[in-house]
Amino acid sequence: MKPETKLAAGAPLAVDRATVHAYADGQPGPFYYQRDAHPVGVEAERRLGELEGGEALLFPSGMGATTALVLALLWPGATVAVADGGYYGTVGLLSGELTRWGLEVSTFDQTGEPPRADLVWIEPCSNPMLTFPDIAAVCERVHAHGGRVVVDNTVLSPMLLRPLAHGADLVLHSASKILSGHHDALLGVVACADPQTAARLRAFRTASGIVAAPDPVWLLLRGLKTLALRAERQSATAAELARRLAGHPAVARVRYPGLGDAVAARYVSAYGPLLSFDVAGAERAAAVERSLVLIENATSLGGVASTLEARARWEGPRVPPGLLRLSVGLEDVEDLWADLDRALAV
Ligand SMILES: Cc1ncc(COP(=O)(O)O)c(C=O)c1O
Repeated sequence: MKPETKLAAGAPLAVDRATVHAYADGQPGPFYYQRDAHPVGVEAERRLGELEGGEALLFPSGMGATTALVLALLWPGATVAVADGGYYGTVGLLSGELTRWGLEVSTFDQTGEPPRADLVWIEPCSNPMLTFPDIAAVCERVHAHGGRVVVDNTVLSPMLLRPLAHGADLVLHSASKILSGHHDALLGVVACADPQTAARLRAFRTASGIVAAPDPVWLLLRGLKTLALRAERQSATAAELARRLAGHPAVARVRYPGLGDAVAARYVSAYGPLLSFDVAGAERAAAVERSLVLIENATSLGGVASTLEARARWEGPRVPPGLLRLSVGLEDVEDLWADLDRALAV
């Protein structure tokens, strides 16, 4: 049975909020203090590990997961190369706060060859530029130089892509997005290919206290039951909207690997909820944002409700001023198209 089939089954798990569990015969059991582990977290990690094909660890946010990964696995002077066009918070953290720890951070075009670095960070269906790397080729190249590869799999989820099977060492998620799926839980995940790395990260997590609480993890577990269906439906709707937007006179460019990216097509057959498109400039983008009725003008992605925003608001000149990022939810495709078409005509 596929891991995703098993997700929908399974009895509901009680939220055990206890921070302390009594010892048995004077000995701590698998649960003794919540900073080390809790039952809801262990169950979610089991399911996520099955999905990604590795050992999964939860963190209180995607950025918490990134921070823990870097601090636990790197060292002062380590070199990190991060894909251009990916999540701005990742490069922002690494080249901002964490450079004070002695990291040397560079960026590169992930559709080409990766540079030599201790850690190379790629993002298939990068957010918000929607570029797609040749994952296996990047891994081979980086491994030849003794480096490790992290794949941020937030946009696609393990329903559509399992990067560890293509040679990645680590997979990172903002589980606040499609994994939990309802914009009501902030969480992160790291899945590790090898158990030693997982043990190192687990020890760091317990020591540092960068720990996910049971309540959001319970929401994640509930969200996982519908992940397969949501990923399928959101991908289908996004593909149709991308196709229609590409033919719209007010749209200069659609960024979506499902429109003919040959490399992406070697790895996936569906492309997740995210696409970006460019209108004539910042003013036009703002007009679209304000004219939408059904689609929420809000940040984030991967929820059951569609969200759209001009990314220049946060990323400045890193993205074109007219770039609008759309995360497609579960609404009817015709309703979404009517909303977009009307807003683009304003
Ligand atoms: C691709 C990607 N990675 C990581 C993050 C960070 O995750 P979080 O907001 O859960 O800290 C985000 C958040 O938007 C993201 O889009």
